[in-house]
Amino acid sequence: MSDADAHEDGDDNASQGGDARARREGDAVVVRDVEKRYRRTDEVTVEALSSVSLSLAGGSYTAVMGPSGSGKSTLLNLVGGLDTPTAGSVAVDSTELSSLSEPERARVRGEEVGFVFQTFNLMPRLTAAENVAFPLVFRGVDRAERLDRARELLADVGLADRTDHRPNELSGGQRQRVAIARALAGDPTLVLADEPTGNVDTGTGDRVMSVLRRVNDAGNTILLVTHERHIAERADRIVHLRDGEIRDVEPVEGTGSGSGSGEATTGDR
Ligand SMILES: Nc1ncnc2c1ncn2[C@@H]1O[C@H](COP(=O)(O)OP(=O)(O)O)[C@@H](O)[C@H]1O
Ligand SMILES: [Mg+2]
Repeated sequence: MSDADAHEDGDDNASQGGDARARREGDAVVVRDVEKRYRRTDEVTVEALSSVSLSLAGGSYTAVMGPSGSGKSTLLNLVGGLDTPTAGSVAVDSTELSSLSEPERARVRGEEVGFVFQTFNLMPRLTAAENVAFPLVFRGVDRAERLDRARELLADVGLADRTDHRPNELSGGQRQRVAIARALAGDPTLVLADEPTGNVDTGTGDRVMSVLRRVNDAGNTILLVTHERHIAERADRIVHLRDGEIRDVEPVEGTGSGSGSGEATTGDR
């Protein structure tokens, strides 16, 4: 993709380019005995997650399914370091998130993780291409190259002809695809998607899911939250969450790596 960036603007490139893209062997994410309690009042706490343990092999594709309120978003936010567990540990790429300061966690998020939310969170005054290019500002990629990369990504999600539109000039489905392109701009090794098809029509949903499948085929790890069975079945395995607990881990037949072992392995296609 953009291997030309290294020499462009001379300052230190230690954390950029090649090594950030290296797909490592082993687990991309390890969640161990995680609990999350929210305090509502002095007497009332909500147990959003209780003793959740889950490993995501590098390059695997996992869907988390469960009814509303079962803890899906809470789990995703903990894996992405947007929130911290009440107990237990979360490691991303062998780095224990709780051992990091908030700025260090932000760096891991910026360099390794791409988030796709149900609400798109696009910046209204920026064009589609500028929105997608935005995360690259923090990588020291110069503007012209940022926009080139953004246009490439928008073309990948079928929006080559919408790069200069602002969010209010786009449909909901188009906005969601811009948000996905933005999540992928930093070439994240881990993509976290919270109900990415929740607010879009069926056709767009299919398109979103094809993009995620391609991202996984390229070797990246995906954790996808949904309450829809047919969406979850696009992953290699489905983790069923209920009342903050994992009830079942179900391999999906007929996707990339479905060897039926229950432990998703690196895709081989
Ligand atoms: N910031 C918060 N403060 C208090 N309770 C919360 C907060 N976030 C989530 N919860 C509660 O935790 C539980 C799990 O929420 P969530 O992870 O959002 O579920 P899901 O994404 O599966 O719908 C719910 O009972 C929810 O009301
Ligand atoms: Mg949710």
